[in-house]
Amino acid sequence: PLSAMEQEDEIRQELRSLHGIPLFKSFIEGWPQVKAFQARPDDLLISTYPKSGTTWLSEIMDMIYHDGDVEKCRRDAIYNRVPFLEMKISKGLSGIEQLENTPSPRLVKTHLPVQLLPASFWEKDCKIIYMARNPKDVVISYYYFHQMAKIHPDPGTKAEFLENFMAGKVAYGSWYDHVRGWWEKKQEKKILYLFYEDMKKDPQREVQKILQFLGKELAKGTVERILHHTSFQEMKKNPAANYETMLPTLMDHSVSPFLRKGISGDWKNHFTVAQNERFDQHYQEHMAGSDLHFQMEV
Ligand code: PPS
Repeated sequence: PLSAMEQEDEIRQELRSLHGIPLFKSFIEGWPQVKAFQARPDDLLISTYPKSGTTWLSEIMDMIYHDGDVEKCRRDAIYNRVPFLEMKISKGLSGIEQLENTPSPRLVKTHLPVQLLPASFWEKDCKIIYMARNPKDVVISYYYFHQMAKIHPDPGTKAEFLENFMAGKVAYGSWYDHVRGWWEKKQEKKILYLFYEDMKKDPQREVQKILQFLGKELAKGTVERILHHTSFQEMKKNPAANYETMLPTLMDHSVSPFLRKGISGDWKNHFTVAQNERFDQHYQEHMAGSDLHFQMEV
């Protein structure tokens, strides 16, 4: 457990820069260990820009790895079952230490942009699943998350946060660079690239894609159990999936719950007409020339 003073160190600090990517001071302090991380060939990496469905995909993957055994997937909180590679909270536990104590086959979470992924993942040819979500829903989800997760700087007003997000002045930097960087890497590496919106629309089809990628087969009933257990409603009430066991000084669910709405298109309840027009223009400029397309609602 962290002392109050150690926690103070992580609360509402300004972001620093890691090779040009804005990130938390404590994560940057742990960077040498992350860079030198030794992946194992059977590690599976879950990679996302923040607020894009990481926890959802993590729960699905843990269920697949345990053949749909709900009890086994309650063995610990999701952030312990799927360690967060670059996470470091001063003297507290780090993702690296957690991973060292995790038996294979390991599931690993990261938000790192593709160019910062530790080389070992490429050298060991690890399987990677990337999940992307449309940026309008990401920015709204990230805004509420900034309010409740105190490791982030204060987000200010929604309008201010929107500006910062568009300028890439948030933790993990530009959403555009992130989704495009991983998309382009898919041409040469074993990456399954999924979309949150597809998962909302047809989760069964997406789980089948994952199974095919893993070379694994599961009975129909098992897949159905996985889909039920990983639905928004089930995850929201599951203490092993909803982050409510996290230190209250780091996350305040009374401000906004971690599993907040879980829908596509919530941005429509938040963007003004002018903000939407500006965002569309900015989006078109930054996605120009790419064959990567997003559904802004489903
Ligand atoms: S983090 O902190 O970056 O790891 O957050 P992440 O898990 O990527 O994203 C959180 C958002 O995902 C939603 N979520 C889900 N949506 C649908 N179904 C399920 N099962 C589910 N689980 C998590 C969560 O509610 C956050 O989105 P918003 O829009 O804020 O509700």
